[in-house]
Amino acid sequence: MSTPVNRQILLAARPTGTIKASDFKYVESAPPVPGPDQALVRNLYLSLDPAMRGWMREGDSYIEPVKLGDVMRGGTIGEVVASNSPAFAVGDKVFGMGGWQDYYLVHAKSGARVLPADVPFPLTSFLSVLGITGLTAYFGLLDVGKPKAGETVVVSTAAGAVGSIVCQIAKIQGCRVVGIAGSDEKCAWIKNELGVEAAINYKTQDVATELRTACPKKIDVYFDNVGGEILNTVLGMINVHARVVVCGAITQYNATQPTPGPSNYITLLTKRSRMEGFVVIDYMDRAMEGIMQLGQWLAEGRLRYREDIVDGLEHAPTAILRLFNGSNTGKLIVKIA
Ligand SMILES: NC(=O)c1ccc[n+]([C@@H]2O[C@H](COP(=O)([O-])OP(=O)(O)OC[C@H]3O[C@@H](n4cnc5c(N)ncnc54)[C@H](OP(=O)(O)O)[C@@H]3O)[C@@H](O)[C@H]2O)c1
Repeated sequence: MSTPVNRQILLAARPTGTIKASDFKYVESAPPVPGPDQALVRNLYLSLDPAMRGWMREGDSYIEPVKLGDVMRGGTIGEVVASNSPAFAVGDKVFGMGGWQDYYLVHAKSGARVLPADVPFPLTSFLSVLGITGLTAYFGLLDVGKPKAGETVVVSTAAGAVGSIVCQIAKIQGCRVVGIAGSDEKCAWIKNELGVEAAINYKTQDVATELRTACPKKIDVYFDNVGGEILNTVLGMINVHARVVVCGAITQYNATQPTPGPSNYITLLTKRSRMEGFVVIDYMDRAMEGIMQLGQWLAEGRLRYREDIVDGLEHAPTAILRLFNGSNTGKLIVKIA
């Protein structure tokens, strides 16, 4: 039997602008050995997320940056392969922050969660629709956006992992949904298969003109994943008591200079509206509520989702770039083993 190797991808440099493969370093070592009350997990799937760009940057954020030389942080699904902990049995499938590597150690208080064995969905769904992605859509839209039936909800990165779930939850709430995405194919998917009322290709269409047509009663909820120009345009079209959910700002993540704020912010005053930042990890104590509801909608055929699975840990440093050039189709995942 060959000796197992722990392949690891470390953060080697803090990127300037777009991430480069050379910002990472590949190393190999022996897998760690579990001590008392620890278990060894072999990673099977790694989630790639836009937030990783923020974790690579020095500075104050909602979470500490990854230190130079450390294994790159990432959410994973893995399998327990050895255990000295009553909390983990060999064979358990586990979600945790396993990182860009083959093996890592968990213990009862490390935050790793054993996944239920009896669900009729693929394991990867716990990184996509039933994972952080689905929970971001669920809590961000329902708790922060608070959509009501009949209201108009606009969603950016609408064909992406989070955005596509937001669109469908807003439809389930009885809202008029307008999605903004970066290709005709993505727009066709959200319109024809997810059922949004209108889809706007921000790369080829004038967003302000299209939104005026698509939102005859203006905008009550904006689920913002991009910031920048689109946020500013939407702010110019909000209704009284609108809610703007600041979930992400992918237009800013690679910026090398400070970016100007939205000049239309004054509508927050004139329309007595609210713009609120949101981080999904604040909702982890309610994760089960979200997973149960998302699972029920999935089982009822009311939610669809896409996964974009790249084979091979070694491809993670280049695959992550797809989140920033829009070539991912759905939740970007790396198959490690
Ligand atoms: N607050 C939280 O707790 C939380 C948690 C998870 C995710 N998020 C945020 O949610 C957003 C979506 O994340 P995701 O994981 O679902 O990724 P995703 O939408 O599956 O992938 C990212 C997408 O962003 C779009 N994009 C990239 N650069 C852009 C630009 N300059 N302008 C406009 N769109 C651009 C691309 O789609 P197009 O082809 O449509 O351009 C790309 O496919 C991100 O902003 C992320 O940071 C927040």
